[in-house]
Amino acid sequence: MRLADPSALDDHRALGADGAATMLNLVRSTGRQLQEGYRAGRSAPGLPSGGLLRSIVVCGMGGSGVAGDILRALYAERLPVPIVPIKGYGLPEFCGRETLLVAVSYSGNTEETLSAYTEAIARGCRVVTVSAGGELARLARGDDVAHVRLPAHVPVPRGALGFLASAPMGVLESMELIPSPADEIERTAFLLEDLATALGPERPGGENEAKSLAAWIGHRIPVVWGSEGVADVAAMRWKTQVNENAKGPAFVSVLPELDHNEVEGWSAGSGTPFATIVLRHGGEHPKVGRRVVASLEAIAPAALDTREVLGKGFGPLESLFSLVMMGDFVSIYLGVLRGVDPLAIPVLSGLKERLRE
Ligand code: F6R
Repeated sequence: MRLADPSALDDHRALGADGAATMLNLVRSTGRQLQEGYRAGRSAPGLPSGGLLRSIVVCGMGGSGVAGDILRALYAERLPVPIVPIKGYGLPEFCGRETLLVAVSYSGNTEETLSAYTEAIARGCRVVTVSAGGELARLARGDDVAHVRLPAHVPVPRGALGFLASAPMGVLESMELIPSPADEIERTAFLLEDLATALGPERPGGENEAKSLAAWIGHRIPVVWGSEGVADVAAMRWKTQVNENAKGPAFVSVLPELDHNEVEGWSAGSGTPFATIVLRHGGEHPKVGRRVVASLEAIAPAALDTREVLGKGFGPLESLFSLVMMGDFVSIYLGVLRGVDPLAIPVLSGLKERLRE
């Protein structure tokens, strides 16, 4: 892999190329997306009753599926019922009349999500759909199911994460299942505006943590560790964004789980091809904090090159989205350095096309 000089990240021509510029603008809009998606979810007409629920299931794939992971990370410890993300065609046996099922698909055309939706209707689940149109919106209209319509201008679902994550939050608030997240969303949007300036393309490499991380990763394979809680979701998002934006492999692991397997795999000298980013957050269990240090010490002979990124702000939503925004910028800059188009996803789209035939 030929790698551009890090000065390419301060070159307006490289960053202004269509794909990179589009992706950078989408990342910059994450805070505004959060505000808008939340309002759309909260005001969605025809939401089902939240009374006597026994489970909440969030179905979706890829960039849309992250919405379920985010809701679980934010609310699992605060809700009296389990919240389960589902990424596939079917539903667990427990899904029925006392289940709220939120089907999330930005395009509205993802076959796994459509299959789970159809199954949910057949089982009598209380269903809410979230999309920017597509078949999911059409089915919801026909079935008289609540639909949150997202703005349709985003060219790729992974660029719409703010909308996709906050619309279900608005829905859960409206159904009186969670307290209003309005203040958290406002604070997060404010933080993300600042962060977008600090990490955005205009801020030169020497003062820009995202550019510096991308240059540091370079041709190596990122291994992203996330401390349990919101950083594990952010770590998965880093991995998938490196895959899609920088067109390279990346791996993800979660602490403390990785202490029970992965550490054994880092044998002496095995770290050279990798760059490890450890994502931390203020709400992590104190024992997990100690484990980060101990784990890195335990695998020191592997000679892994490691950097740590700490979530910003006070609450879990701020922490999570600040880590996500950092990873989104890093992955786009990495794509630019590697000379690939961060926007285009020909393999993924080609595969969908082939499976549709
Ligand atoms: C593409 C992307 C994908 C899609 C996934 C599901 O940018 O991020 O992971 O999100 O293929 O499609 P949607 O989101 O339309 O249901």
